[in-house]
Amino acid sequence: MEIKQSKIMLTGATGGIGHSIAQQLANEGAQLILVGRSQAKLRSLLATLANPEQHQIVVADITTVQGLRQINHFAMQSPRINALINNAGCNQFKLLSQKTDAELEQEIQVNLLAPIQLCQSALSWLTQPGVMLNIGSTFGSIGYPGYSVYCAAKAGLHRFSEALDRELEGSGLRVLYLAPRATDTELNNAAVKQMNQQLGNKIDTPDVVANHVVAMLKQETSAKWIGWPEKLFARINQILPSVVASAIHKQQATLQHFLHPSVKPSVQPSVQPLSQPIDHK
Ligand SMILES: NC(=O)c1ccc[n+]([C@@H]2O[C@H](COP(=O)([O-])OP(=O)(O)OC[C@H]3O[C@@H](n4cnc5c(N)ncnc54)[C@H](OP(=O)(O)O)[C@@H]3O)[C@@H](O)[C@H]2O)c1
Repeated sequence: MEIKQSKIMLTGATGGIGHSIAQQLANEGAQLILVGRSQAKLRSLLATLANPEQHQIVVADITTVQGLRQINHFAMQSPRINALINNAGCNQFKLLSQKTDAELEQEIQVNLLAPIQLCQSALSWLTQPGVMLNIGSTFGSIGYPGYSVYCAAKAGLHRFSEALDRELEGSGLRVLYLAPRATDTELNNAAVKQMNQQLGNKIDTPDVVANHVVAMLKQETSAKWIGWPEKLFARINQILPSVVASAIHKQQATLQHFLHPSVKPSVQPSVQPLSQPIDHK
């Protein structure tokens, strides 16, 4: 798609990756509809963007009926919207046994149900041609301890994007999926950042993800995984999951250490990153 002068709705605009996407798209000449829960955060983001008068904000919680109605109503009043980027997301690095019902629901709603609902409503207000881009995660392709619900939601989002893209063939609408790897934002709390460092996981800046978003929109790439070897592991996990399980097994001491911060590890935390060559057993 042509980004210059296109109108693009972006959820999660106030987050780390959302902020970078908004800046890069504004620099490319797009007119943005920035969605977030905090008016103050949206306003301060707006002030940092090129041509702030060209962009609009919508204050809405995408997990509520009212929030989704507000977004839909706003979109229906807009003369044209060329793209929707479902970027809002949340997660908690926690054992399933430690999560409350409310936490489970929140993770599924923000990462899976709300993007599906927004895509459904976008079918009635996106221009044709038009694009929906869903932001997933490497964890949508690899089941990882401590992220079971997030993995389930992002895996669902991947399959949903693929299915809807195929369903809409010939309609002028595309549905794309981007899977970032670990990125330096507030999504990851201090313990997760420390764990990533200890495991030697590569961490991208939000600008790296935003570069991929811009490139994907321009080329309308169906799906993309950021980072090597994450891209490779995502593929291997589909055909030889035991190989990836074995690599994760070697990280278990470190993972358990961060999942049970009060318990001292009986063995030294291992420091084998998923990015190390796989030792086939
Ligand atoms: N950071 C990573 O390591 C990483 C890796 C792979 C994929 N991703 C994905 O990248 C996307 C952006 O994540 P990020 O790292 O930028 O996270 P972030 O900095 O925590 O930002 C998350 C954004 O989602 C919004 N959001 C959360 N719950 C919401 C709700 N109920 N209604 C409306 N908005 C809501 C937040 O809005 P508020 O300001 O209102 O809280 C915030 O703008 C997510 O889909 C995430 O899963 C991130």
